[in-house]
Amino acid sequence: MKTLLRGKDWIETVDWTKEELETVLEVSKYLKIKFALGEEHRLLQDKTLFMMFFEQSTRTRNSTEAAMTQLGGHAHDLTPDKMQISHGETPKDTGKVLSRYGHGIAIRNCFYGIGNKYIREVAKEADIPVVNLQCDVDHPCQSIADLMTIQEKYSTNSLKGLKVTVAWTYAPAYARPLSVPQGLITLLPRFGADVTLAYPKEFKLIPRTVEDAERFSKETGAKFKIIHDMDEAFKDAHVVYPKSWGCHQFLAEQNIPEEERKKIGMEYLNKYKDWVCTAERMKLARKEAIYMHPLPADRGAEVEDAVIDGPQSVVFDQAENRLHTVKAILSLVMGGRP
Ligand code: CP
Repeated sequence: MKTLLRGKDWIETVDWTKEELETVLEVSKYLKIKFALGEEHRLLQDKTLFMMFFEQSTRTRNSTEAAMTQLGGHAHDLTPDKMQISHGETPKDTGKVLSRYGHGIAIRNCFYGIGNKYIREVAKEADIPVVNLQCDVDHPCQSIADLMTIQEKYSTNSLKGLKVTVAWTYAPAYARPLSVPQGLITLLPRFGADVTLAYPKEFKLIPRTVEDAERFSKETGAKFKIIHDMDEAFKDAHVVYPKSWGCHQFLAEQNIPEEERKKIGMEYLNKYKDWVCTAERMKLARKEAIYMHPLPADRGAEVEDAVIDGPQSVVFDQAENRLHTVKAILSLVMGGRP
């Protein structure tokens, strides 16, 4: 187990070795037990985390702030309008200044083509660790909590032989980032999972993430495939993870002007109203299959209530594991071995 992780940025899981990720999972389990027993675990006493949210959040904001409180520190809940970012302050200056005041910076910036670059720019200039709370490329705090949840539900650290289906779903409310499916396909094959990625052709992912998924699968002997049929993807799955994402990558590749993307994206979306996780479709998966979703779910569009509220759903266990895993990440990178 590699334990010297103090000062390391948590931006994409691909930046961490498998051994380092295993340390995060082990520490998460330890802190989950401490939390269950009501035992103190003030590992970041008097430390400060600056949380910068460019978008809304329920789980990420509250799990991270609660984590800092329970670890004995404090989190500042910041948005661009509370800072000089809205007046054009650069990521370099923000990173350098916050480094003089505290011990960690955590950022959510999901703008397509911008978010990951912004976080990496802050990290390059900051003298304190930077944690990605979701960007356009990865949502590592979500995927590590999802991995922990699968390990718990199947009572195994290795996902070898498990078929995990990550499927696009219809959801008309807004175009979600690509980072959740990308985070899953780049992490789960490293732990041996056979991943099937299913989406209508306009909803492709960023090619670099697919290449990473293919490379990791090859290294571990796992199977990775992309198909465009939701029923086929569900067949015999141990884990189904159906969720919506936007067609940002496809629209960018087609050189659709920025101002037309929303309207054209909605036209593509409306072609696939039958990509829904129904109770009927769940019957295609294995009897013991679990249903996962990072939340917020668009109930009635992405998924039927009978599924998300049904016995196969583990969505609230996933949400809970966001607390334990972010505590582990923050403790390791902001505290850790002296
Ligand atoms: N799953 C997740 O990141 O939820 P929030 O957008 O509410 O943080």
